Amino acid sequence: MPIPEHIIDEIRDRNDIVEVVSQYVPMKKAGRNFKANCPFHQEKSPSFMVSPDKQIYHCFGCGAGGNVFSFLMNHVRVDFPEAVKMLADRVGVKVPAPSKDDGVRDSLSQVVRRINQLAESFYRERLDLAKGVDSPRDYLKRRGITEETIKTFRLGYAPKASGAFLSYAKRKGFDDNTIEKAGFVIRRDDGTIYDRFRNRIIFPIKDLKDSIIAFGGRVLDNAVPKYMNSPDTPVYNKGRHLYGLNIARDYIRQADSVIIVEGYMDLLTPHQAGFRNIVASLGTALTADQIRLIKRFTRNVYILYDSDKAGQMAMIRNLDALVTEELNIRVVQLSEGYDPDSYIKERGKEDFEKALKMAIDLFDFKLGYLLKMYSDKSLEAKVKISKEMLETINRVGNAIVKADYIRRLSDALSIPEEALYTELKKAKTGKGDYLSKETPAVTERIDKMDDAPAAEKMIAGLMLEGSDWIERTKSYLSQHDFDHPHIKKMVRILYEVPINSKGIKPSQLISRLKEEVPPECISALVLTVEGMEDKEKCLEDCVKRIKQNKAKRELKSMQSEIQTAQLTGDNALTERLMGQYNRLLRGATRG
Ligand code: CTP
Ligand code: MN
Repeated sequence: MPIPEHIIDEIRDRNDIVEVVSQYVPMKKAGRNFKANCPFHQEKSPSFMVSPDKQIYHCFGCGAGGNVFSFLMNHVRVDFPEAVKMLADRVGVKVPAPSKDDGVRDSLSQVVRRINQLAESFYRERLDLAKGVDSPRDYLKRRGITEETIKTFRLGYAPKASGAFLSYAKRKGFDDNTIEKAGFVIRRDDGTIYDRFRNRIIFPIKDLKDSIIAFGGRVLDNAVPKYMNSPDTPVYNKGRHLYGLNIARDYIRQADSVIIVEGYMDLLTPHQAGFRNIVASLGTALTADQIRLIKRFTRNVYILYDSDKAGQMAMIRNLDALVTEELNIRVVQLSEGYDPDSYIKERGKEDFEKALKMAIDLFDFKLGYLLKMYSDKSLEAKVKISKEMLETINRVGNAIVKADYIRRLSDALSIPEEALYTELKKAKTGKGDYLSKETPAVTERIDKMDDAPAAEKMIAGLMLEGSDWIERTKSYLSQHDFDHPHIKKMVRILYEVPINSKGIKPSQLISRLKEEVPPECISALVLTVEGMEDKEKCLEDCVKRIKQNKAKRELKSMQSEIQTAQLTGDNALTERLMGQYNRLLRGATRG
């Protein structure tokens, strides 16, 4: 049961961020704001700011930022409901207790959770029933999974019959539609449905509240697909969870580190061997949401993915996102052909422990990989390597670490540091030119605002100063004129603010977009605009620039349309597009 929006608003408004932050961090007044040494990274002179007017905090050193909720979540490492509870208690606001039956019909997600619960016990019972040679229990035993692990992770078995769970769930009162929405069935072309999980070992996936949100199923032989997983449902979204986190959370806190593996078995075997601070991403690319989950428990991450060459570079690039998130990432390498499960089984836990100890810092790992890939030391190779490494370095918030990386790169490539600094200024994240253009969708969401056009950032910041600025902007620009994904989302909400209202407070915008935009991206904008001399002039310049950028984007996309038209020999279309292109070009240069 989510806490109602208006109660969240009330709790946020009544907890002054300055008072709350002061409980943890000693601050000094600096003009309208407060300053402190940043609690989120090591520093000697204060770059951490708290604004009483805007009710936000932001650090110019490491880029941390957000509202009073984000502060507690990141500093005390609690989740959102816990932060709400702490602040509600502080000011004596009552948070309505989640009630099971308040007269309202169950929401779909509640029903889905209930079916999941039912399915878990169904699968668990079937695992107990099927005994003997070649039984699922036998399979687990052969793979070295103990009874205790089966219990801890509540492993189960989905029977062979194509309607086993479907008919069971129906007998228990769930209808086809709900069962389908919960992801348990697949629909045939003729409209009939059948069980998604058949003759598979079942791995229930739980969230941090120990509520079952999805399932994974593995075949018992070499059939394909080897694994099947629940689709996205009202309670499950693949990239938002980490398998095993509910069990590993306390171990992660204790160890102050987490091991991230790919798969179910790669988690269970190490867990059994005593490596319990372990979670699985159930796929390769880590998402922003998964990273945020991890950050609540530790900053020290061991990545332990299969060492197949094909995925290597994609994996490394995905890890760059973690650099932005200020995590210490180390990559563990197992000898070729092993995954964590087989490694422990064949080599033993001592060797596994050794492999963890020998984990390499992401920077060195990536550099080593690139040096191997371009071993010729030609000038061209150096350019490529430095370009790729600068993308990582560019994401580092801490200036000292940055400087250290530059020095190491300069040593490794025998290139003067100054040259690297010059290139660093030019480097924009995500533009490596020899790799596949396909960066995972998540990196876009992980990027801080560095890559947003300055004009968009400034205008968004201005609109947070009050509804009159929103009205002014609206009269010049439509939502579609903005390009950066985060800013687009902010604009969508800002443009809905009623005329002549007080506008929307930055701290409130942070809450409204908490699932979509990292809080520090919003706090960063607010403080950019603060103390700006001529806001009028700024607005005009920004509008002009944003329009120019938009025109440029349009021109670019037309160019490729024209190229396609030319290639396909469609002369009429080419002609027409060229006409449009030229008109657009005249308009753009005039603007
Ligand atoms: N995976 C998946 N669908 C597949 C293959 C893999 O969802 N068809 C996911 C699963 O979460 C799996 C992980 O990717 O656990 C790693 O896949 P893989 O390395 O192929 O399997 P293992 O974990 O090694 O599984 P096992 O040891 O049981 O063969
Ligand atoms: Mn395996």
